[in-house]
Amino acid sequence: MDKEQLMQQARSIKQHAYVPYSKFPVGAAFLMTDDRVITGVNVENVSFGATNCAERTAMFTAMAEGYQKGDFKAVAVAGDTEDFLPPCAICRQVMAELCPPDMPIYLTNAKGEISTHTLREILPLAFTDLDM
Ligand code: THU
Repeated sequence: MDKEQLMQQARSIKQHAYVPYSKFPVGAAFLMTDDRVITGVNVENVSFGATNCAERTAMFTAMAEGYQKGDFKAVAVAGDTEDFLPPCAICRQVMAELCPPDMPIYLTNAKGEISTHTLREILPLAFTDLDM
């Protein structure tokens, strides 16, 4: 599974997003250490704070399926944006809990280009269990 294939899964799951308020569908696809892919979409709520982003939906689904901290190998995120769509700060914090700091994060834009980052790069000085 290469980054293009992972991104394709993020793009295609996006159609399941529940976004009556923002009309801003997002899809996320995590590659797991056993090479399975776990996807997620954003699910909004009329009480806006109850909204769950695509990335967290996917991570929580993976945990519910029995995966553990450290079983996440890469993630691709896709929206309908012109520019690369980065994960929100809450999702970065959840990634910091469950995913390795060097995990690749693939973002895409309207041209279909993919930019690659690491979790460490997008969440420097993360607060983790090691800080407690
Ligand atoms: N959203 C995501 O699902 N992931 C991101 O990376 C950025 C934002 C969602 C939350 C909300 O449903 C909508 O996009 C607009 O903020």
